[in-house]
Amino acid sequence: MLLKASLLLFISPAVSDSIRAGIQQTQQPLMPSLPSIQVVLTPVLDATASLPAVLKISLSFSPPNLPANASLVELYIAIGNVPCQAYNETNPILAVDDDGILDLTIAVGEEHNLRRWLTSRPTVGAVKLFMTALPREIDITTPIGPRVDLREIDGGLLGSASSMVPLPATTPPHHSYKITVCWNLSKSHSNTSYASSLGEDLCTEIADKAQAIQALQSSIFAVGPTLHRYPPSSQSPEMSQFGLFYFGDRVDVPFDVIKLADYIQALFINMCGYFHDSDTRPYRVFLRPSLRGFGGQGFLSSFMLEYFPNVEVEQWELEWLLAHEATHNWPLMDSTPGQVTGADNTWYNEGIATYYQLFLPYQFGKTTKVEFVKQLNMNLQAYFTNPTINMSNEEVAEQTWQNSAAQRLPYHRGLLYFLRLEYLLQQSSGGKLGIRSPVLQLLERKRRGEAFDLSCWISLVGAAIGNITVAKEQYQDMAAGGCLSLPSTALFHFDLRVIHTAQERLELGFDTASLNSRVISGTVPGSRAEGAGIRDGDAIVQTRSMYWQVADNIARNMSMWLMRDDVEFDVSYWPRSREKVPSLQVVDGGLADNHIS
Ligand SMILES: *[C@@H]1O[C@H](CO)[C@@H](O)[C@H](O)[C@H]1NC(C)=O
Ligand SMILES: *[C@@H]1O[C@H](CO)[C@@H](O)[C@H](O)[C@H]1NC(C)=O
Ligand SMILES: *[C@@H]1O[C@H](CO)[C@@H](O)[C@H](O)[C@H]1NC(C)=O
Ligand SMILES: *[C@@H]1O[C@H](CO)[C@@H](O)[C@H](O)[C@H]1NC(C)=O
Ligand SMILES: *[C@@H]1O[C@H](CO)[C@@H](O)[C@H](O)[C@H]1NC(C)=O
Ligand SMILES: *[C@@H]1O[C@H](CO)[C@@H](O)[C@H](O)[C@H]1NC(C)=O
Ligand SMILES: *[C@@H]1O[C@H](CO)[C@@H](O)[C@H](O)[C@H]1NC(C)=O
Ligand SMILES: [Zn+2]
Repeated sequence: MLLKASLLLFISPAVSDSIRAGIQQTQQPLMPSLPSIQVVLTPVLDATASLPAVLKISLSFSPPNLPANASLVELYIAIGNVPCQAYNETNPILAVDDDGILDLTIAVGEEHNLRRWLTSRPTVGAVKLFMTALPREIDITTPIGPRVDLREIDGGLLGSASSMVPLPATTPPHHSYKITVCWNLSKSHSNTSYASSLGEDLCTEIADKAQAIQALQSSIFAVGPTLHRYPPSSQSPEMSQFGLFYFGDRVDVPFDVIKLADYIQALFINMCGYFHDSDTRPYRVFLRPSLRGFGGQGFLSSFMLEYFPNVEVEQWELEWLLAHEATHNWPLMDSTPGQVTGADNTWYNEGIATYYQLFLPYQFGKTTKVEFVKQLNMNLQAYFTNPTINMSNEEVAEQTWQNSAAQRLPYHRGLLYFLRLEYLLQQSSGGKLGIRSPVLQLLERKRRGEAFDLSCWISLVGAAIGNITVAKEQYQDMAAGGCLSLPSTALFHFDLRVIHTAQERLELGFDTASLNSRVISGTVPGSRAEGAGIRDGDAIVQTRSMYWQVADNIARNMSMWLMRDDVEFDVSYWPRSREKVPSLQVVDGGLADNHIS
């Protein structure tokens, strides 16, 4: 899963060293007029039963010289289905400037999903804002969504700036900013640790001034008395290049943190080479326990891995997820303004991450061919057995947070698109070109600060194929949805053959909304769920499989712990339809031929 792509415009590699160096005392005043924002985060952690830990945030702006009724800062109302800090009358933002209190009014722009704080009079001199970000209150019914909200974890706090730090508008005309972010630990115990996507020092200045706001927005912040780092950064400079951060005791994390960190570190180094990344910016993984979620979310040079101790997770699933989230660090497509959010680029961002999460570990020798074929087949069946297969990308984008099947679709539809395109490019170039070529070109455009949206992609693919019409058709075919075809020889460069088959459609057997309401409704008569004894009105005490796990793995059962008439019971059933639908799978080319002869 990926945060909105426009929040993920990365800091350019050339200037990244200065980020790691923290505040640049010796920096020359190149542009004395560059506006500045100093952000100070003051965690107040001595929570009690009635008072949660909170994050006090102050923002100091160099004189913005705004007239009355101008937008000072803005913040999303929600990101996906996750509400951002409201900072309304109950818990307002306080503003002062050289003339004293500066009253702010809130303008809610539902159509742009934004809350704007407007000045009540012209500003005089520098402006300071003070606010308190409150951790989100969650329970078992809190739906799974983007992992951006501020959460209290083990007496500490973890959250993304995108949900809690209001900032000046980033809509054109873009402005460069000098942004520094500092922790103030005066209200924390001396044993408090802290880290963010931006760095591990008390103060960090964002080096890429032109993208400073976006970099801050797509950062994660973590602080707390039990926040730990693996490997400890003190071990060697090499160790400081990668960090996995978790709260609490390592033995309480339901998987091997060290094994995981070593895997992702090695993969990450290989991926840097693959994507021509000479950047030396550290990469960080933040773990977040939850009441029911298991999944990941990509951020700036970092990602959040959410886990739930009771969901059964296998090591390969974890590695798979990590490879996926790590890929989000590089190939990326920007959205086109005016589109339904995600309609035009989620297929690319999730599809390419799904493609590389399979192919790169195999190419780097971290997956055997047998495992690779198994995982590829899981992803192929996930597309063909998805009940929303006939939705267009636009319909999928509109339904993504209400319909779990629609939310998964772009991952596998995108994968199919890239498999088809790889074949096409190999054919049209006599084996010289593959998707890597346009993928790297789009990435280069992003690195140079040029546009990297859908129309750029289609031009790049058109140039690689030598026919722009074909590039457009490939995209339109995919965006329209339905059963996408794949020639039987499409994967012959991996010595694999594509075969036509039929597989059981994904069928939970009750309304997926029940997973949030925690009460079963809409049980499908005759389904395997009903056969397993599930009835409308049963309370869901605990789910032991994630929707995406059963969707991606046709062999996997849905396992739940239900309650009826005060009696608790376990159910485990195969969430698949009784009839089969057409599907594609791959088989080892060499082996298949041997069997025939
Ligand atoms: C303030 O600006 C908003 C739009 O940003 C506009 O709707 C409103 O009419 C303005 N109010 C005044 C008093 O100018
Ligand atoms: C302020 O926001 C909080 C949290 O979103 C909400 O519960 C509360 O109702 C809001 N208060 C007002 C007055 O809008
Ligand atoms: C940290 O915050 C405290 C009050 O919360 C303030 O007195 C102190 O000056 C701050 N320190 C820095 C370095 O900003
Ligand atoms: C951190 O320090 C506080 C007060 O000194 C103490 O109560 C708490 O147990 C310490 N926490 C850890 C994890 O050491
Ligand atoms: C998708 O469309 C095809 C062809 O129109 C149809 O056979 C199939 O049943 C549809 N699938 C779903 C899940 O609606
Ligand atoms: C490009 O492909 C289209 C559709 O396949 C074809 O009709 C057209 O002739 C091709 N153009 C060139 C210049 O090869
Ligand atoms: C999966 O569910 C089926 C019933 O649909 C059951 O027979 C089987 O034992 C379950 N498998 C596991 C591993 O729980
Ligand atoms: Zn993703």
